[in-house]
Amino acid sequence: MCGIVGYVGDKNAQDFLISGLKRLEYRGYDSAGIVTLAEDGVATLLRAKGKITNLEEKLAHARREDRIGIGHTRWATHGEPSETNAHPHQAGPIYLVHNGIIENYKELKQQLKEHEFKSETDSEVLAALIDSFYKDGAHPLVNAVVQALKLVKGTYGIAVVSVKQPDEIVVARSGSPLVIGVGHGETMIASDASALVGHTKQAIYLNDGEVATVKSDSVEIKTLKAEPVSAKVEEIETNLSAIQKGGYDHFLLKEIMEQPESLIETLRGRVNEREGTVRLGGPGLSEAQLRKIKHLIIVGCGTAYHAGLLASYYIEKFTPEITIEPVVASEYRYRQVYIPKDSVALIVSQSGETADTLACLREIKKQGVTTIGIVNAIGSTIAREVDGGTYVHVGPEISVASTKAFTSQVVAMVIFGLTIAQAKGVRTSILRPYVKEIAHLPETIRKTLESVKDSVNGLAGKYAAYEHGIYLGRDTAYPTAMEGALKLKEISYVDANAYAFGELKHGPLALIDDRFFEIALLPKGELYDKAISNLQEVLARGGHVLAITNEESFDLPVDDVIRLDVDAELFAPLIMNLVLQLLAYYVTVAKGYDVDQPRNLAKSVTVE
Ligand code: M6R
Repeated sequence: MCGIVGYVGDKNAQDFLISGLKRLEYRGYDSAGIVTLAEDGVATLLRAKGKITNLEEKLAHARREDRIGIGHTRWATHGEPSETNAHPHQAGPIYLVHNGIIENYKELKQQLKEHEFKSETDSEVLAALIDSFYKDGAHPLVNAVVQALKLVKGTYGIAVVSVKQPDEIVVARSGSPLVIGVGHGETMIASDASALVGHTKQAIYLNDGEVATVKSDSVEIKTLKAEPVSAKVEEIETNLSAIQKGGYDHFLLKEIMEQPESLIETLRGRVNEREGTVRLGGPGLSEAQLRKIKHLIIVGCGTAYHAGLLASYYIEKFTPEITIEPVVASEYRYRQVYIPKDSVALIVSQSGETADTLACLREIKKQGVTTIGIVNAIGSTIAREVDGGTYVHVGPEISVASTKAFTSQVVAMVIFGLTIAQAKGVRTSILRPYVKEIAHLPETIRKTLESVKDSVNGLAGKYAAYEHGIYLGRDTAYPTAMEGALKLKEISYVDANAYAFGELKHGPLALIDDRFFEIALLPKGELYDKAISNLQEVLARGGHVLAITNEESFDLPVDDVIRLDVDAELFAPLIMNLVLQLLAYYVTVAKGYDVDQPRNLAKSVTVE
């Protein structure tokens, strides 16, 4: 989604802005722009449609030594991607960049007769509104910003500069993240701390309803009601290697391959294999509170939803007297749902900023239900608003397609389920097999990735030729199939859908023909034979099947088989998902598409 950067200090602002915007490229964007101000207030505005390299071409003819500026990557909401609609937007002496959506922009626009609008954006309306209160510098910029924001309905993270005050940036947030990096003689702002990595380790995360005046040597924060806020400086944990490709061609492949290490971080200090127990500090629930839980709601979008769905299949297997309801956040937020007493809601999000998930969190909190975050991005809005939480600690996930976060979200939620089961007195003999497999998962994942990577690559060309994919599974393999299909469609643009094997006869079987391939997930276990019978039906209709199984006796005449020799029976589907991640990656490479930044998508979906 849109990205914001800003700089005020003693170094070249254009350099910081461009490098910061490049760090935010992964969030998805369709145009970009920067404005810098010289000491005498002369502004240099550069904007370009498309990639940041287009902006750099313009910059080559407009190099400045300016020490202050703001920049933006835009993901179009109001108005097509174009140079005119790109930010920063100008209104009189001020320039503004904005993430979010101004919902009442049409009404506001009608009142701003003096401004000649150049773009179709809601953001330019906000710029003009601020300018109308600024009165050409007669009032402090921060006061004008506050007055304008009081009239705004919607979400925003904004940064504003004025040619009349070329030594300060005013920033504010409501529903769209903003972080201030505190350096020595310089202060930086960004919508995502990854833009600050390597420049400073000290960060102030702005809260909703706060506005800050940022100078090279000071940060002054207050609320929109003019109450002063004392800034809490936190440490940025990310290091440079975590946001670089580290020798891989794409972030996606790096993130798939680093899952053994990222899962070790998720498990650190949480699993005691010898005792067969788990421990989670973050949720902050006492044994008595855990014992009382009767209903678990799991809220997420996309991959985070699939992680919740898969975790729910596991948790209900070993936790008695509990109902689990995994829900899609964009739907749940508008449903008239009765939430039973003694419920806890798990709020699952890699970015911690997803608008629909955040809205659900707020709705659920209003009903007095305890909320627990399963979040990756440290200091993100969801992480800060939940009652308690468990970070998955997988480090920055840069590629738009979520991979390592999924694996760790599932495991973190299963561990949470195990803490409930422990508190409810479930026998260790029932829980121990789960704990044992979880403890060994990083190693199992490492071995699997090493053993299947080349064979999956070898198959990619063949499967890239199909127009459609059907992913099939039962029980825990069904949510896995859903996640696999999502991965393929979002990066390779192949139409892929998942079905529970048992649903085939109820419709999807009619689809099978030469334009389709089918992925059959066949983990060992109780339902293996049932899945095999369903697969026979596909083969009898001429299906083109790639089977993924850990059952040695599998011998059906499918097109291809990936056999997994895994030390995990319960979590075999999670291991099969690694194959699906690699398949999506290599098919996309074979098709020549942009793996890390698929069309139309953004990493962090901060608008509804
Ligand atoms: O940051 P979140 O986990 O809240 O994001 C949720 C979805 O937008 C995300 O998982 C999306 O579906 C991914 N692009 C899937 O790979």
